[in-house]
Amino acid sequence: MKNILIVFGTRPEAIKMAPVVKEFKDNVNFNTRVCVTAQHREMLDQVLDFFEIRPDFDLNLMKPNQNLYNLTAEIILGLKTILEKFPADFVFVHGDTTTTMASSIAAFYSGAKVCHVEAGLRTYNKYAPFPEELNRQISARIADFHFAPTLKSQENLLKENISIENILITGNTVIDALFFAVKKVNSINNHTIESLKNIINFEKDIVLVTGHRRENHGKGFINICKALKQVAEQNSVQIIYPVHMNPNVQKPVNEILKNINNILLIDPLPYEAFLWLMEKSKLIITDSGGIQEEAPSLGKPVLVMRETTERPEAVDAGTVILVGTNTEKIVKEANNLLQNDSEYERMSKLHNPYGEGKASKRILNFLLKK
Ligand code: UD1
Ligand code: UDP
Repeated sequence: MKNILIVFGTRPEAIKMAPVVKEFKDNVNFNTRVCVTAQHREMLDQVLDFFEIRPDFDLNLMKPNQNLYNLTAEIILGLKTILEKFPADFVFVHGDTTTTMASSIAAFYSGAKVCHVEAGLRTYNKYAPFPEELNRQISARIADFHFAPTLKSQENLLKENISIENILITGNTVIDALFFAVKKVNSINNHTIESLKNIINFEKDIVLVTGHRRENHGKGFINICKALKQVAEQNSVQIIYPVHMNPNVQKPVNEILKNINNILLIDPLPYEAFLWLMEKSKLIITDSGGIQEEAPSLGKPVLVMRETTERPEAVDAGTVILVGTNTEKIVKEANNLLQNDSEYERMSKLHNPYGEGKASKRILNFLLKK
């Protein structure tokens, strides 16, 4: 029986790997273990709770305001110990975080085959997103098998001379997670959702905001906060902003946006409550990768606070507009969508560029043949 080690560390990796964990743990042909680096702690644990995943190994690495040097080194060393205890035939990594890149290196050193989920996304600008663009390129150099969410991501890998037999187009596992979550939320009474109903004025249009990208830290975040303040002043909206726990985000957001009566700053939401709020929102303003993928399935227009994106599918589908971190541009596009019904209608059509929720099954079936 083949040994499988599935490794992840941050909130978005956990969400997108949860369906893969379920598929492999339920299959008797594999001996599957889950290792979390805990590059994130609270935001990771929220996801583990919801998907009822109990990691077999927990490196518990997160430190306040951690830096990339220590994190990278500690992940590689931590995984050495795990891979000595559990000699994996296949190690699964996801996407483009420091956990992804460092775990790929450790897995390669151990002799395991590396399986990269959400492979082939590219901007080809190594500073945007930073350090994610280089993280995923490094994982692609190392990986034996590449699970590409879309045709475009497969094309990127083919251009890099990766053999077509080692690539599978799967759709994005984020959609598998979304379907699972919507079903589960409808079947239980959720405390966070009940308390959100008490604090949010749903008579106003809801604008949902998130942001965390490293390349936006500093001036970028100051511009973003100034823009949100103007959007709040110029429209009868309720802005809701679950603020990422990174201190480089917490500080400017709290300093600039704390006491504005139609801006509600809250803690990061559990995944299911965040999805529920996305569904209730008129407009989403974000620099997140995962949210760009979820929004088309929910038919929600998104302004993406980045100069470039590795997810062109949603831009092509017309659900996403890139606005960078330019204050005037963010305000102009937000006002346009909030005040111009025909423009809003055009952008709020349902699209499924990231698949129909079968990605993790396809990954399992591919591995069954290896
Ligand atoms: C990380 C990833 C980024 C991913 C993002 C998703 C890297 C370099 N960055 O960025 O690719 O898009 O996660 O959110 O891999 N913190 C907490 N509790 C938590 C999580 C974070 O307190 O549960 C704080 C800590 O002070 C931590 C800091 O945030 O040191 C930064 O965390 P880190 O994972 O290094 O960077 P992110 O900005 O979260
Ligand atoms: N998300 C969440 N709670 C929040 C904000 C986001 O559960 O308060 C989810 C969201 O639905 C998406 C993922 O987290 O699936 C995106 O994570 P993030 O923006 O941190 O990282 P990125 O996708 O940019 O790597």
